[in-house]
Amino acid sequence: MNPDSDQASLHSISLTDLTKMSGLPMTIVSAVVQCDDLAGLHYLPLDEVETNEIGRRIKKILMDNTVEKAGADAQHRWQLGWQEILERVRLGGISENTLLPQYFKHDILRLYGGYIRATTLDFEKRIFRLLKAILFFNYFTNISHVIEFGCGTGANLLQLHKMFPEMKLTGCDWVQPSLELIGQINQETGSNIQPINFNMFTLDGNENINITNSTAVVTFAAMEQLGDKFGPFLDMLISNRPAVCIHLEPIIEFYDTTLEFDLDAVNYHNKRNYLSGFLNKLHNYEKIGDIEIIQSHRSSFGSTFQEAYSIIVWRPL
Ligand SMILES: C[S@@+](CC[C@H](N)C(=O)[O-])C[C@H]1O[C@@H](n2cnc3c(N)ncnc32)[C@H](O)[C@@H]1O
Repeated sequence: MNPDSDQASLHSISLTDLTKMSGLPMTIVSAVVQCDDLAGLHYLPLDEVETNEIGRRIKKILMDNTVEKAGADAQHRWQLGWQEILERVRLGGISENTLLPQYFKHDILRLYGGYIRATTLDFEKRIFRLLKAILFFNYFTNISHVIEFGCGTGANLLQLHKMFPEMKLTGCDWVQPSLELIGQINQETGSNIQPINFNMFTLDGNENINITNSTAVVTFAAMEQLGDKFGPFLDMLISNRPAVCIHLEPIIEFYDTTLEFDLDAVNYHNKRNYLSGFLNKLHNYEKIGDIEIIQSHRSSFGSTFQEAYSIIVWRPL
């Protein structure tokens, strides 16, 4: 970045940006997002030289055979990652900061089809938080129970508990430290989140999941980890008939492969073996009348190499 960058070119995230990113009306966004929530959310679009440099970084990653891939073999990595957070929480207590996954560390992000440099490192997690708050507010009117699959550190469940203290909450993950983190959250905040050991590949743990017609299912960058092996999990959701399913996930179908910017994300997405074919499959189920897709929206926001904040909302019929 040019060190003399003109302050005038500094952009700020507004309510209008959040309506664009969430795909929901201004009336909803402005009911959820307060002035303070937007304070300090500034960024600069990258210039051509900087953009080309990111392109080179992606090409290098694509050639790298040691890049970690999502899949059944990745369980051990999640185990280690969340164990590290569990130790941090044991020392520092529960807070949004201690529960923050290690991968929220980028200042170069994707927005509206170009790269930006955020002025602070918490930009991505703050936008993620706001998008969740907007979605919860919009879709959880008649919901009494929320189940998060692939709940990780429990940060999203803590956000839900703060927003809806009376809501019954369940957190599912396939690694033990994640379930222990939920225990810590319950102990420290008085929440009563039910931890369940559940594997989205094998559906092990299914007998402990209780979905009713007032249950909402949510996933955040969790189905991402299933590659093209999401079928049994999706069918399990459809047959259990929750009120609504909300996903913030990288949706490969949204990218426009005629654009280099998007093609880079597609290549990166495939290199990491992320979720593939989910939206197409939902469209097929919609055609035969099994489900209704309520919202399917590219937020056009993401971390450096891909956009994990695409929004899909659907319900079984
Ligand atoms: C990128 S993290 C996202 C965590 C959390 N949803 C969040 O937003 O912070 C992916 C999560 O999915 C979990 N996961 C991956 N594959 C899974 C599987 N087959 N069954 C259950 N959980 C899985 C991982 O353990 C991890 O917690």
